[in-house]
Amino acid sequence: MATERTFSIIKPDATRRNLTGAVTKMLEDAGLRVVASRRIHMTREQAEGFYAVHKERPFFNDLVSFMISGPVVVQVLEGENAVAKNREVMGATNPANAEEGTIRKTHAESIEANSVHGSDSAENAAIEIAYFFKPEEIVG
Ligand code: CMP
Repeated sequence: MATERTFSIIKPDATRRNLTGAVTKMLEDAGLRVVASRRIHMTREQAEGFYAVHKERPFFNDLVSFMISGPVVVQVLEGENAVAKNREVMGATNPANAEEGTIRKTHAESIEANSVHGSDSAENAAIEIAYFFKPEEIVG
């Protein structure tokens, strides 16, 4: 499997609890390399655009409000099989269903305040990376 990139967000519940380093260490320990990283406070428009695929879902407005409730850290992660590896180390969306040792089992507070986002496919990873980063900001 060739080296692949995926997109990650450390969400406001995690930055609020000063867990940026702890979460990043779990990503790195899983074999992922942070090749771009920026701490930002998303605008409502940015969050709505990022989650546009979910706009018909009943949780959309709450999700957007949560994602702009504090700073987030947007990251590009690189490694072998990075999309799947990141999803494995994140654990299930709902921390109640997440495996022991995953980021969400260890740190998440709820299905909404679930500490991290990760791309669900290589195709979406490319779209999500381009939403936040210029090519020259990614240094592998
Ligand atoms: P994320 O990977 O960022 O993608 C969409 C997010 O919606 C998801 O993580 C959850 O944090 C959030 N969310 C909130 N409520 C729900 C729900 N009922 N089902 C699925 N996702 C939800």
